[in-house]
Amino acid sequence: MAKIYVVDREGTEHELEAELGWSLMEIIREAGLPIEAACGGCCACATCHVYVEPEWFARLPEPEEEEQMMLDEAFEVKDTSRLSCQIKMTEELDGIRVTLAPEF
Ligand code: FES
Repeated sequence: MAKIYVVDREGTEHELEAELGWSLMEIIREAGLPIEAACGGCCACATCHVYVEPEWFARLPEPEEEEQMMLDEAFEVKDTSRLSCQIKMTEELDGIRVTLAPEF
């Protein structure tokens, strides 16, 4: 089983088992971590915002236009910001590390 590492808003890192084919948002939500994901993964809310560790960020496919548009309107956006509902878990992402962005 692949793993992902998620740092919560208190700075605690969680190792989560990651089902291939699920989005990172689904994996994080299923584990009970506080990710709102208000739109359920439709790329319409930006409440699944995460910061991706730079070395992993560089390996991700480019965001689709809708994701980029949502990120343009999100708060506290950084160079490594992504919407976790738009990142599909693959074997290549085994070990990826992300941090939950602040809630508003
Ligand atoms: S869950 Fe709404 S944009 Fe990701």
